[in-house]
Parts: sequence; C-alpha cells; structure tokens
Amino acid sequence: MDEIELIKQKLNIVDLIQEYLPLKKSGVNFKANCPFHTEKTPSFMVSPERQIWHCFGGCQKGGDIFKFLMEKEGLEFKDALEILAKKAGVSLKRKKTGKKDFRDRLFEANLKAQELFGYILNKHPLGKNALDYLKKRGLKKESIEKFGIGYAPNSWDTLTKFLLKRGFSISEIINSGLGVASKDFCYDRFRARITFPLIDQKDRLIGFSGRVLYPQEPKYINTPQTPIFDKSSYLFGINLSKNEIRNKKEAILVEGEMDMIMSYQEGVQNIVATKGTALTEGQLELLKKYTETINLCFDMDLAGDSAARRGIEIADRLGLDIKVTTIADEKDAAELNRNNSDAWKKAVQDAAPIYDYYLHSTAKRFNLKNPSDFKKVAQELIPVWAKITDDFVREHYIQKLAAFLKIEEKLLRQLVNKQRKFDGKISFIKISASAGKKDDGIKSGKTRREMLEEYLIALLLHIPEDHNFVPSFPETLFLEERWKQIYVMLVLYLDSIFFKMASFNINEFVSTLPKDLAQEVDRLYLTELDSKLADKKDWQKEFETVITELKKSLIRASLERLTLEIKNAQEFGKIESLEKLNRRFRDLSVKLKNL
Ligand code: CTP
Ligand code: MN
Repeated sequence: MDEIELIKQKLNIVDLIQEYLPLKKSGVNFKANCPFHTEKTPSFMVSPERQIWHCFGGCQKGGDIFKFLMEKEGLEFKDALEILAKKAGVSLKRKKTGKKDFRDRLFEANLKAQELFGYILNKHPLGKNALDYLKKRGLKKESIEKFGIGYAPNSWDTLTKFLLKRGFSISEIINSGLGVASKDFCYDRFRARITFPLIDQKDRLIGFSGRVLYPQEPKYINTPQTPIFDKSSYLFGINLSKNEIRNKKEAILVEGEMDMIMSYQEGVQNIVATKGTALTEGQLELLKKYTETINLCFDMDLAGDSAARRGIEIADRLGLDIKVTTIADEKDAAELNRNNSDAWKKAVQDAAPIYDYYLHSTAKRFNLKNPSDFKKVAQELIPVWAKITDDFVREHYIQKLAAFLKIEEKLLRQLVNKQRKFDGKISFIKISASAGKKDDGIKSGKTRREMLEEYLIALLLHIPEDHNFVPSFPETLFLEERWKQIYVMLVLYLDSIFFKMASFNINEFVSTLPKDLAQEVDRLYLTELDSKLADKKDWQKEFETVITELKKSLIRASLERLTLEIKNAQEFGKIESLEKLNRRFRDLSVKLKNL
C-alpha cells in the first residue's frame, strides 16, 4: 500500500473535518453547511466509508482528506501530505527525484530557448523587422526586456540544433513543446514569430506563445499541453502583476498578451491576460489567491457569449466580485494604451458591476419599443439572475430588472425563484421522484429524465439494510451509458452478496468498478436522500415511482417518434405501413395509460 492510502486508512475523515465544523449524521453519511461557500441549508456531505466529501450546493467541490485540508488551509498537496502523515504517524519516504529532474530539464530548455529568441530579436539582423513591428505597436525597449520578448527565426531547425548542441535530447525538446515530432526527427515549433515567454506565478518559464508579423493565420500559436504547461490554469503576466493585484485588491483581465503588456507599460499593472480562452475554474482559483475582485475587459459581448457566461458563473460561485470594463470605439486595450492611456485608466475605473453590464448589453440587442422584446430580455436574464449566489445582490437586481421592464417585482421574483428551484434540482440534492412532475419547459441543464436516471442510481446505492432486494428491470431503462454500466455492475454485486448472505459494502462495490464509474458512484453515494427512504416500504414505493416515470418517458419518446413516422407515411401514401404504425401507436398509448 502506498503512503497516501496508508494515511487515509489511519485517519478518519469525519474526525478531521469535525476539527473545523460540526457534522450531523444523515443516513450513512454526514452533512454540514459547506465551509467553502455561504449557504443556509447543508449540502456538504461526508462519507466515512468512502473517506470522501462533496458539496452538492453552490461550489461543487469535493475530494478526500488531502483535498479538504488543501482547500481549508490553502495548502499545496505536498504540505497537506506532510501534515496528515504526521497526524497519522506515517513516515514519508523521500520522494524519488527522477520525475523532478525531468521537469527541471524542460524549464531549462525553455530558458535556453528564450536566450536564443531574445538574442535574435535584439541583436541579430534577422530580428530587425520584428523589433520594428513591436515599436510600431507602441512597445518600449524596457517592456521588451521586462517581458523577455524575442523572435524565432524563419527556420525549421535553428532552435532544435541550438538545444541539441547544449546537451538537450530530442525527447526533451519535444516534451517541452519547443520541437514538434516528425517522422524521424523533430522541427522547431516557433518559426518566424515574435515570442512571448509564458511565466507562471512561481516565476517558472513554462512555455511560449508566438505571434506572426504579417497578417496570417493562425495569428498566435502556443506551447501545447506539456508536463510543465497546463493551459487551463494559466494567466499571462501573473508573475509580474500578482503583487499589484494584491495591492489594488482587483485583477483586470484582458484577452491578449499585447493588451496586458501595453497596460502594464502605461502603469496599470494589476492586470493579466487569459489568452483568448473563456475563463476557467483553474484561472479563477489562481486569481482568488490574490484578490476578491475581477474586472473583465474582453472584446466579446459577455452577455451574448455562452462560454463567457459560464466563466462568470464560476467566478460568482467562487465568491468573486465581478466588474466589466467597456472600451468605446471598438478598440482593444493594447491600442487604447498606445493612443491614450489616460482613457484606459478612466475606462478601468468606470467598470460596471457585471449584472448592470448584463442588463444593458442584453437590452441593446433588442428593440425595446416592442413589448414582446421585453419578454425576450426577461427570458435571457432570468436564468442569469437565478445563478447569483448572494441573496442580497440577487434581490437588488431583481428590483432593478423589474423597474427596467416595468413589471411587478413580485412576478419577477417568482420567476427567478422558480428557475432557482429548477437549478437546485439539477444540482440534485433531495430531488424526489414524487415532487415537481413538470419540466417547466426550461431547456437549460439536465432534463428531468436525466435527473431521474441519476436519482435511480442514487436510490439503488441506498437500499435499506433490512431490505434484501435485487432489482431486475432491464438496463435499457437507462439511456445514459454510464448509468447502464453502473447498474449492470451493481446487479452483479447485489446478486453476489445475496448469495453469500452478506450485507452491502460500498467499498467492496466500488472496487469492482473502473475509475471513472467509481467517481460517479462516489458522488451519488454522497447524495442526501429523504430520511423517510431509510424505511423499507417507503424506499420500495419511491423506487417503483421512479421506474414508472422512466418507463413513461420512454414510451412518450416512442410515441413522438411514431407521430413523425405516421405523418411521413400519410404524406407519401404508404397505406400498409400506416396501418402498422397506427396500431403500434394505439398499443403504446394503452400501455402508457395503464402504467
Ligand atoms: N490567441 C491564441 N491563438 C490564436 C488566436 C488568439 O492563443 N490562434 C490568443 C492570444 O493570446 C491573443 C488572444 O488570444 O492575444 C486574443 O486574440 P486576438 O484578439 O485574435 O488577438 P489580439 O490580442 O488582438 O492580438 P494582437 O493584439 O497581437 O493583434
Ligand atoms: Mn488585440
């Protein structure tokens, strides 16, 4: 057994978490108000058997004892490991250094590459055009130095040869992302491009981006995912700006390297660039180490772009305050800083709170002389308003939107709350088959059918102890492949314990599953079910209700398909098949009624 498993075995997750917050028993699990976000009803669940925790509420975090300590104390894994090892009385072996050396070599290869690129830009005739280009865009010599900007010449092998000569192997060159593997060798990834070193918050050079000088696609290329570069949690410029972000208590986010550099050069230095991607959880977690407020200045319409909206939802969930800077005249931050840095400073200061921005930018897309467009604005914004986690803030914007739409606050509040209820069901805790039959026609998130499938698995993982029950419905009742697989494995397992007259053991069952399914089972095992489901009779009734509903939904789907086929047959005068189809339709309708 490895150290980590040993520590997990010696410590009890319930005891550890109890040191931080009171846990209440709930069925086989424990629950509490989540310590990682504010909530009034407990959705933080802990399983002593599985030694895991999960929040089904706003933050959706989860993991084992290590993850809990890391989150709670803001630790890196290795520090959490040390603390818990001590607690468990487990002595840690010195880590093998092999892996570390390998990563260090990649950092070194990057540093060498930067040396070469910097030399070519600043000292070599081959870099002259690039240098002129950068000056034309407004970059000063000192910025070029500060950011370590360089130029990769128009050649297939200049860098590869340079690195080979300095003792790096082909595999190191490829693994760093600097070289691209080809049939029998490797060639330079960055060719005829201005290079921007990508440096992380720990000042490590983890990769590069490269921009062309002349209009050409792609405009930028980047180091791919490597052992040292994880694009999804990277922010350009964080190494230089993190202190200023802390001082100013705000992080400005722009899209491009040039935007970030030009702003920094002109003195607004609490800024990072996302490099064109939608905001990720990893990026936001990183920023949260330094500030509680983010100020977004992106080219796209944040309210209209669904990827951007998702990023903003994550930020809200993480408890970040979100503002939006808009730049007039379609210019980007880089250009504005070159022409008029005072206007940039003012724009940043005048940033609007995100939900005001949403309201105005959504309204702009519609013709508000038209009453039905008011409805469209409401339809777009109600789901957004429903996602606002803070009660106070949400209420504020309900009032604001109601005034804007000239409707009753009460009506709007009802609609927002209805959406929240629906979203809550999706996040799953306590969804009950007997509650809320209708889908409300809301398209977002999971369908009721999908929720029911999950719920059924959760139910089956919580069969009351005195209920020796092995389900026997066909697995085709599940449409979702993973539930099918889990169900089949579960029946096998239940059969085996029935035969041995043993009782259900979640660890035993999970050990029969591949990793991805085990994760799903862990999450569903932590689901808090209605307490009355501990009773055999109530459980059985609930189980049957869910099965019936799933069957109905299957039949309804078949009926819908049949309707289409019947229409089709009518149109093309296929009398024979029409009769057959009609008969099937009648049979299924009867079946549906009798369920
Ligand atoms: N980007 C990228 N790959 C691309 C295009 C863009 O990684 N093929 C990233 C770059 O970090 C870029 C950012 O997305 O800076 C924004 O893209 P875009 O708006 O196209 O570039 P600009 O920032 O306008 O680039 P520049 O100012 O240099 O013209
Ligand atoms: Mn730009």
